Amino acid sequence: MAYNFDLLNERRNTRSYKWDQRVKLFGGSDVLPLWVADMDFLSPPAVLEVLKQRAELGIYGYAVRSDSYLDAIVNWFGLRHDWSIKSSWITDSPGIVTSLSLAVELFSEPGGQVVIQSPVYYPFYDVIEGNGRVVAKNSLLIRNGRFEMDYDHLESLFQGGAKLLLLCSPHNPGGRVWERDELAKLGALCLQYQVTVISDEIHCDLTFPGHTHIPFASVSPELADITVTCLAATKTFNLPGLHTSFMVTSNTKLKRAIDQRLKTLSLHMAQHFAQDAVETAYNEGAVWLDEMMAYVKGNLDYALAYFSEHLPEVKPLVPEGTYLLWIDCRGLGLDIAGLKDLMFRQAKVAFSEGSVFGTEGEGWLRINLACPRSIVEQAIRQFCDAARKSLQ
Ligand SMILES: Cc1ncc(COP(=O)(O)O)c(C=O)c1O
Repeated sequence: MAYNFDLLNERRNTRSYKWDQRVKLFGGSDVLPLWVADMDFLSPPAVLEVLKQRAELGIYGYAVRSDSYLDAIVNWFGLRHDWSIKSSWITDSPGIVTSLSLAVELFSEPGGQVVIQSPVYYPFYDVIEGNGRVVAKNSLLIRNGRFEMDYDHLESLFQGGAKLLLLCSPHNPGGRVWERDELAKLGALCLQYQVTVISDEIHCDLTFPGHTHIPFASVSPELADITVTCLAATKTFNLPGLHTSFMVTSNTKLKRAIDQRLKTLSLHMAQHFAQDAVETAYNEGAVWLDEMMAYVKGNLDYALAYFSEHLPEVKPLVPEGTYLLWIDCRGLGLDIAGLKDLMFRQAKVAFSEGSVFGTEGEGWLRINLACPRSIVEQAIRQFCDAARKSLQ
């Protein structure tokens, strides 16, 4: 390995959302944080270097968006995802959640239904409800130890008038990397009922061996025409604090609406630091990414083996992608408050409590595995020890 992911990087007192809110959120500075989805790893060295070079310029005036930035995005998706996009299809946005919210505002009616496949990343609910729309839940089914889509129920929602779907692909928190035939079946229903799809593919680069991310818009030209894909380098290369993402659509009508709204909000200007980081990460970060995912796979294997040996009452869904592990803790017989007490007070760990992802998540927890192995080992040991005691 060229990169050392075992390194314990000090994140305390660095304005870290994950580490510096432990007293406020979990009641103790000794709680190990494996919750919000950023990594405890340094970004690729080339990214650090380019940001230093930018900082040293000392003048941070207004920026233009360079062709080389857009080329880096186009090349990455061509090479890594076999998806041929054009730079004219790309629109920058400060973040994926901003993009989702804009899309809800632009492509659904006030009071209209917007479909999500729950349990799902919690801001999906916020952007729908905050824009005065109604959440139409298409709950995922658990079959053969993994989430699957309920197409019959989905069709009933479309028949009931829902015209917008927020797709999470790969899926957070379930770790599914949707397969081509699943996406095609979903897409056929969307085409049949004239549903617009906003596909959040922020986890697209984070897949485990044997699983390939298929961009929804790449499945067919017909699907490309009803889809806006929300993408970012931030999850892939641990840059979320830089607040940068982009939307891709080949549909000029959808793109025009997005561009206009972003301009009205004055969110359209280019940034220096984010642009440098994203361009460099895509151009020079591939090896780092492959090694990082191999390391996370080691964390995953460790966690799965440990639970199976020491706490078989807890049943993990084995993820196909993302660095998140969704575990079924209903066998512990605890309610939401009980699970929080077990984590924060007894085990001194902070995983994400599952009900924030939807009612389907009650009794589940989500563990962020993008941290040094020693932290994973300690956190899971502390959790299992505390859970065993609570079962006695
Ligand atoms: C599915 C999904 N979408 C969006 C985001 C956040 O994106 P952003 O920080 O660009 O708003 C996350 C972060 O965890 C996520 O898991």
